[in-house]
Amino acid sequence: MQWAGSRRRPRRLRATPATRGLVRETRLDPGQLILPVFVREGLSAPRPITSMPGVVQHTLDTLADTAAEVVTAGLGGIMLFGVPETRDATGTGADDPEGILNVALSRVRGVVGDDTLVMADLCLDEFTDHGHCGVLSTDSGGRTVVDNDATLQRYAAIAVAQARAGAHVVGPSGMMDGQIGVIRDALDAAGYTDVVILAYSAKYASGFYGPFREAVGSTLTGDRATYQQDPGNIVESLREVELDVEQGADIVMVKPALPYLDVIRAVRERVDVPVCAYQVSGEYAQIEAAAANGWIDRDRVALETLTSIRRAGATSILTYYALHVAGLLRDGPR
Ligand code: PBG
Repeated sequence: MQWAGSRRRPRRLRATPATRGLVRETRLDPGQLILPVFVREGLSAPRPITSMPGVVQHTLDTLADTAAEVVTAGLGGIMLFGVPETRDATGTGADDPEGILNVALSRVRGVVGDDTLVMADLCLDEFTDHGHCGVLSTDSGGRTVVDNDATLQRYAAIAVAQARAGAHVVGPSGMMDGQIGVIRDALDAAGYTDVVILAYSAKYASGFYGPFREAVGSTLTGDRATYQQDPGNIVESLREVELDVEQGADIVMVKPALPYLDVIRAVRERVDVPVCAYQVSGEYAQIEAAAANGWIDRDRVALETLTSIRRAGATSILTYYALHVAGLLRDGPR
C-alpha cells in the first residue's frame, strides 16, 4: 500500500546494525572518559563503598594497579580524591606534600607517565574537620560562613602542591568566586604554566552527591547551598562558565550530568573551550540499585546515559563506569 509521503522511510536506516552504525551521530570512545578514584590513608586493603557497589576506597598499591588499568583501557584520565586520616580547620593535609592525595598523585604519575592524564580534585572538603569546601570565619552578624577570599589562598597553595606532586590537571571543585584566576596565577608563578585547569564551573547543590559523602567519609553537617548552585537555575551557569573562561579555565564542567543535560547543551553553545560533565555518585548508585533488582540492564543503561551526556554536548565525561564501559566498547556488551 502506498500512502502520502511513503517514499520517505526513516526506518530504512534502522534496518541492520550496519546501517545503524553508519548513521549513528554520537559515539563513545574510552579516550573521552575519566575515572574518578578514592584513595584512603592508612588502609591495608581496599574498602568497599556500600552505596556505590563496585567502587572502593583504594590503598596506594591498589590505586597504582588501577592507574595501570586506566592506561591499558585507553581512558582519557584518572581523577584522584584523597581521604585523609586526620582533618583540621584549614585542611592542611591538602597542600602537605606528605598528604595522602599528593603522595597518591606522585605514585600514580610514576605509574602512568604521560600515557593518561593524572587529575587532582582541588578542594578542601575532604581535608577539613567541618567538611566544608572552604575555611570558615564569622561574619559581621556573628554567623559562621565559608570565607571566600581566605579559601582562595588555600586553593593557590594546594594547586602548586598538586602540580609539584605530578598532576597534569587540577580540578577546582569548591565553587569559590575567583578561584580559577587565583589558581592560574599561582601555577604560573611556580612555573607550572602547562598544568591544565578543569574547572567545576556549573556545580549544583545536588542530592545526587549522597554516596560520595560516604566515599570520602564526609563530616559535613548542613549543606553547600551558599556556594553551589540552585538546581532551578541555568542562566547562572552561563555566568559561571564565562567567569571561569575569562580567568583561564582550559575546560569547564557541568555537574551532575544526566539531570542537567539542558545545562550541558547551553554551556556547549556558549563557550569555545571543551565541556566536561560529571556523572556523579548518585547517578551511578541509581543505575546500580535498579540493576541489582533486575529492573534495568546495567550495561545498556550505562552506555545510554553516557551517550546522552555526549549527545547533549559534553566532550568528556567523568564516570565511575569508565573502566567498565571501556571494556564494553572493546568487547561488546555481555
Ligand atoms: C567536592 C566534591 C564533591 C563531589 C566531587 N567533588 C562533593 C560535593 O560537592 O558535595 C561529588 C562527586 C560525586 O558525587 O560523585 N570536593
